[in-house]
Amino acid sequence: MDELIKKIEEYQKELLSFDASDASQTEEFRIKFLGTKGIVKSLMAEMKALPAEQKKEAGKWINSFKELAEQKYQEFKAKTQQISAAQSAEADLTLPGDEIPLGARHPVSLMRNRIVSIFRRLGFSVADGPEIEDDWHNFGALNLPEHHPARDMQDTFYIQQDPAVLLRTHTSNVQIREMEKGKLPIRGIYPGRVYRNETISARSHCFFHQVEGLYVDENVSFADLKQTLYFFVKEMFGKEARVRFRPSYFPFTEPSAEMDVSCFICGGEGCSVCKKTGWVEILGCGMVHPNVLSNCGINPEKYTGFAFGMGIERPAMLKYGIQDIRLFSENDIRFLKSFCSAV
Ligand code: PHE
Repeated sequence: MDELIKKIEEYQKELLSFDASDASQTEEFRIKFLGTKGIVKSLMAEMKALPAEQKKEAGKWINSFKELAEQKYQEFKAKTQQISAAQSAEADLTLPGDEIPLGARHPVSLMRNRIVSIFRRLGFSVADGPEIEDDWHNFGALNLPEHHPARDMQDTFYIQQDPAVLLRTHTSNVQIREMEKGKLPIRGIYPGRVYRNETISARSHCFFHQVEGLYVDENVSFADLKQTLYFFVKEMFGKEARVRFRPSYFPFTEPSAEMDVSCFICGGEGCSVCKKTGWVEILGCGMVHPNVLSNCGINPEKYTGFAFGMGIERPAMLKYGIQDIRLFSENDIRFLKSFCSAV
């Protein structure tokens, strides 16, 4: 037993004086101390020959020696790996670096940026708001009281414990939040993600993106609304584009309209994109309802405003020839890569 301990002490000295400065010396160390025919294994064999009552004590000695050898080996490994990395870098500094794959803008972002930049030129500033919203900012303040049938057009996702909290169905909540601030005039554009409880198909999804706009000041009229949107359409779809307004209904605007653009694929001749009508529906709009202004503390006798809202996916699908709305959120790198050169 004493002999064994002495031996271990000798080996320990030897181990502590060992220094490895490259990978092959590290390997040499491993084979010598930890290999199948190495010192640790041979000490274990010796231990087996000892009488039973000494085995426990000997085992402790061998184990702590083994731990020391393993620790040293890990140190050598880390050190020599660093050295060899540094050496290979020194070897040829002109080698090209690892390739970093370049991404591309998502088509939804491309379209959003285009829309936003056109309105910015007209003096609209961008604001955003929460996607998780309360009932008041998404519905109530917009003249959509509880149980109002028009809520059916925009069913959303509720949280069971508190139905007053929901995922916003439009970015009109930002319009309300901006009006509540009480700083007039307002000329804002509100891009963002919205949610609807709809069956997912090639044409509709349970979430999509919108850009809404709002202009509130004294003497704002429907003529301002038309001219603003007309400018937008010319910039977005080209000088030849024509527009038409169809009367419509939204609880938060009065009067309300849907705006169509002459089909920018066929120029109005009739094709599969415009379903042979020559027109493509682009957005909803109207004059802000007086109730909505008062709900936000704005005097409707003094101020008027217009608002509009459009989806982003639909014009993006038309512009880039995308057949299925689900592609936008599938994160398929092949799909995304195809927009590398798009603007
Ligand atoms: N908030 C409406 C929607 O999401 C769009 C809209 C905005 C219509 C402003 C009129 C005025 O359907």
